[in-house]
Amino acid sequence: MLTVLKHPLITHKLAIMRNQETGTKDFRQNLNEIGGLMVYEISRDLPTEPITVQTPVEKCVTERISKDIVLVPILRAGLGMVDGIANLIPTVKIGHIGLYRDEETLEPHEYFCKMPTNSKNAVVYVVDPMLATGGSAAAAITLLKKRGINNIKLVCLVGVPEGVKRIEDEHPDVDIYLAALDEKLNEKGYIVPGLGDAGDRIFGTK
Ligand code: PRP
Ligand code: URA
Repeated sequence: MLTVLKHPLITHKLAIMRNQETGTKDFRQNLNEIGGLMVYEISRDLPTEPITVQTPVEKCVTERISKDIVLVPILRAGLGMVDGIANLIPTVKIGHIGLYRDEETLEPHEYFCKMPTNSKNAVVYVVDPMLATGGSAAAAITLLKKRGINNIKLVCLVGVPEGVKRIEDEHPDVDIYLAALDEKLNEKGYIVPGLGDAGDRIFGTK
């Protein structure tokens, strides 16, 4: 299922990120802040279990999250969303998947994968700002499933219908969350209007 989060704060911050005049520091800050704003929605259906807490007044039965949570940024650009999300989920563990997209073929190439040991039983959020052809996200999810990890949600900032369709076709069990659904891909595989190369804008590499 696709959820596009529509919220004035998200749209405002994304407009700052889309602006080509925005520098790396502000780009990173707004990316992290949008990641944080998205947490409220992506965590809505986390399971809980009852606990008893002694307040200063009396004992009460309340609830706490009952599943492990793992955040998996797709390197590099996914790293730009980690702090904003992890700061709001105190128990979160963090895995990493390294993929880069060949600029000619647009095919993803894996170069790194390190997951926390509890991942099979956890709710796993794969994060990457850009869902373009969907090749990188689809490959990351396939890689996780091969390791027996099946409770996966995909959290991206900007996507296009092509990328959404690819994930829906290849991984229909994976919920997709976007801050914006843009129009299309251009001939170089960039999202239009998009925000350019997310990795380069986060790390200042171009
Ligand atoms: C970008 C982006 C996604 C991917 C999206 O990464 O961060 O991972 O492209 O494109 P796709 O949906 O067509 O696969 P890139 O490969 O440029 O690597 P980087 O994060 O190291 O810059
Ligand atoms: N990767 C990016 O960083 N930006 C795009 O527009 C598409 C893929």
